[in-house]
Amino acid sequence: MKIETAKFISSKVHLKDLPNSNLPEFAFIGRSNVGKSSLINYLTNQPKLAKTSSTPGKTQTINHYLINQTFYFVDLPGYGYAEVPLSIKKQFEKMIQDYLLKRETLACLFVLIDVRHEPLKLDLEFIQWVGENQIPFCLIFTKCDKLSQNQLDTKIQNYKNKLLETWEELPPFFLTSASKNMGGNELLVFMDKVLQEIL
Ligand code: GTP
Ligand code: MG
Repeated sequence: MKIETAKFISSKVHLKDLPNSNLPEFAFIGRSNVGKSSLINYLTNQPKLAKTSSTPGKTQTINHYLINQTFYFVDLPGYGYAEVPLSIKKQFEKMIQDYLLKRETLACLFVLIDVRHEPLKLDLEFIQWVGENQIPFCLIFTKCDKLSQNQLDTKIQNYKNKLLETWEELPPFFLTSASKNMGGNELLVFMDKVLQEIL
C-alpha cells in the first residue's frame, strides 16, 4: 500500500465528537515523547501533518487524519507524562480509555515503545490492560536509529522474553525510525492486510 493522500480532519476530546464514520482506524499510542506524531508524519510523508515536539505532552487531544479516503490514522495523547497535574492526567486517561474501549471502528492499536529503554512497568501494565480488554494491537519500537544492529537485537530479545513471562503468544511487532525512514513499508503492508480483512 502507498499513502497517496493524508488530511487532518479533527482534534477532539470527547468520544461523541469524533468523526461519525464507518471507516476503519489505526491508532497510535505510547508514552509521551515516544514518537507517535513523528511516525504518522513519516508514514504519510508529510513532515508537518501531526505536531511534534522534543518536550513531552505535545499531543493532548484525539486527532484524526484521513488516509487515501479509506481509513484514519489516530494520533493519541501520550500516557505517563509526569509533569501534568493529576486532574489532567485523569482526564487524559479517561479520554484514552473511552476511545480504546468504545470506538467500534478501531481496527488495530499500535503501542509504541522507545527501543532504547528496558521494559518499563508503565508500558507493560498498559500492554496487559490492552490484552485483557481484547483490543487488537501491535508493538512498534521507535527511534531504532539510535542503536546499533547488535544493540537492537539484544533489546528486542529482552522485550520478547519479558512479554513471554505473562503472554503465551507475542503480538506482531515492528522496528521503526521516523528520522531515518525505517520500517514504514512493513507497517503499511501489515495495515493493508488488516484492511483487506475488514473492507
Ligand atoms: P507527545 O505528543 O508529547 O505524547 O509525543 P509523541 O509521542 O507524539 O512524540 P513526537 O513525535 O512529538 O516526538 C518526540 C521527540 O522524539 C521529537 O523530538 C522527535 O524529533 C523525536 N523522535 C521521534 N521519532 C524519532 C526517531 O525515530 N528517531 C529519533 N532519533 N528521534 C525521534
Ligand atoms: Mg504527539
